[in-house]
Order: sequence, then structure tokens, then C-alpha cells
Amino acid sequence: MTTAENRVALVTGASRGIGARIATALAHRGWDLTLSARRPESLQDFAENLAEKTGRRVLAVPADMSDEDAVSELAGRHDESFDRLDALVLNAGMGAIGPFSDFPLRKLDKLFTVNVRSAYQLVQQLLPTLRETGTGSTTGARVIAMASMAGVSAEPLNSAYGATKAALISLCETLTVEEHAHGVSGVAVCPGYVATDMTASRDDVDADTMITADDVADQTVAVTQLSRTVVIPRLLLTRPGPNLWHA
Ligand SMILES: NC(=O)c1ccc[n+]([C@@H]2O[C@H](COP(=O)([O-])OP(=O)(O)OC[C@H]3O[C@@H](n4cnc5c(N)ncnc54)[C@H](OP(=O)(O)O)[C@@H]3O)[C@@H](O)[C@H]2O)c1
Repeated sequence: MTTAENRVALVTGASRGIGARIATALAHRGWDLTLSARRPESLQDFAENLAEKTGRRVLAVPADMSDEDAVSELAGRHDESFDRLDALVLNAGMGAIGPFSDFPLRKLDKLFTVNVRSAYQLVQQLLPTLRETGTGSTTGARVIAMASMAGVSAEPLNSAYGATKAALISLCETLTVEEHAHGVSGVAVCPGYVATDMTASRDDVDADTMITADDVADQTVAVTQLSRTVVIPRLLLTRPGPNLWHA
């Protein structure tokens, strides 16, 4: 029987924002963690603090999601350090807006590399561990991708970012269809605007009207408590009022 005390997650983009809140919530519930982000110092500080506060094992592995070797090293370090993976939280991501008419193709490539290719690579490399964990666990093993409402409903200027998030939603669904027999399933978390560094420069949306990173983290963690016989393919978290079906 799996208990929270021996469950393990890998969270990308974990040094701040939504990823940091998810990591914090999981550690306080007894999970051990592998955490990743690009900048080693802030990641290491965050991981050490969390380990000290919660008494959990927290491994920090810096990795840029645009670097295939670094992504591979991240998966390898996780497997060397832990013998299971109950939740793979694919949270690291970048945004970029611009009109469809002249959005630079090299920016499109970068967005797909960071937001989608790295996620695909991590799932592929960690699938044996996810399967082994999922097979022996009452809650299964979950791949949780931080998608966006922009992947569900079109937003002007978000053709590229929205397409990467729609791709993540599709990957999660295919994973569930292919891997359910091994107790592995996917969920795409699709929030509207969340008040983090990523949205701090937006002057067209009041930060007070945005979703909090804690709300996204709490709902994400709730998914990990479900039994393996249920899946939430898409978890939509949006704002009340006229933005109901928009970011
Ligand atoms: N904020 C929103 O409104 C919103 C809404 C819907 C979905 N999302 C999605 O939620 C996820 C987290 O967003 P957030 O708002 O929490 O962002 P954030 O506050 O800017 O945090 C981003 C995190 O990802 C890391 N990161 C950024 N680029 C990376 C890369 N190339 N490789 C590895 N790590 C990287 C950052 O650390 P380093 O800088 O040290 O790498 C940091 O830990 C993203 O996938 C985003 O698209 C955000």
C-alpha cells in the first residue's frame, strides 16, 4: 500500500511561481521530491529550505528544458536517487506573445522545445519508473502537465504559446489511453491568468483578479490523492465573470 510518506514527485520549474507552490504543498504532505529549474542558486536555496522545514528528502537538479542533454540528466538523476515516481509534474514553461502574422519561427521553435519537447522527453525517459510505480500503487502514477486556458480556448496574440499548451493537453490524453494498464495516466491543468512572475509585467490584467498560485497548487495536489480508477483529463481553473472561458 502506498502512503504519502513514501510517495515521490519530480517537479520542473520548481524554484518559484506555481511549481514552487506545488513542491511546497507536496512536501508538507509527506512527499519526497526531485526539483528542477535553470538557475542553480535559487533552486538549491529553495530545495534546502523546503527539506529543512518539512524533513523530506528534496533533490535539486538544475536543468534548462531547452537542452536535451540536461533534460536527460535530470531524468537520470531522479532514477539514481529514488526508486519510484508517483507524480511527474511538467510545469516549467515559457510564454511569448505576438501577432500570428509575423511571429518569428525561431521563437515558435523555442516555445515548442521548452514547453512540449522537454515534456515528451521526460515522459519517455521516466516511463519505466512511472509504470513500475503505477502498477504497484492504489493511486497510480500521474503525469501532470501545466497547460493553460490558452490551450483550450483561443486568445489573441497567443497562437504559439496556445498551440504548445494544446499539445500538452493532447499528450496527456494519449498517455492515459496508452498507459492505463500500467496505472499511468495524464492530467492537463489549464489555469487562466495566475499571479506569478510570468504575468507580473501585464498591465492589461489586474493582478488582484488573477488566480493564486496556491489555488493551482492545491487543486494539482488533490489530483494525486485520487485512486487509480479515476482520471481528470483536463482540470480547468478559470476566473469568474466575463473571463469564464478565457485566460
Ligand atoms: N502564470 C500564468 O498566468 C500561467 C497560466 C497558465 C499556465 N501557466 C504555466 O504554468 C507554468 C509555470 O508558470 P509560472 O507562472 O509559475 O512561471 P514563473 O513564476 O515564471 O516560474 C517559472 C519557473 O520555471 C523555471 N523555468 C523557466 N524557464 C525554464 C526553462 N527553460 N527550463 C527550466 N526551467 C525553467 C523558472 O526558474 P528559472 O528561471 O531559474 O529557470 C521557475 O522556477 C508554465 O508552464 C506556464 O506556462 C502559467
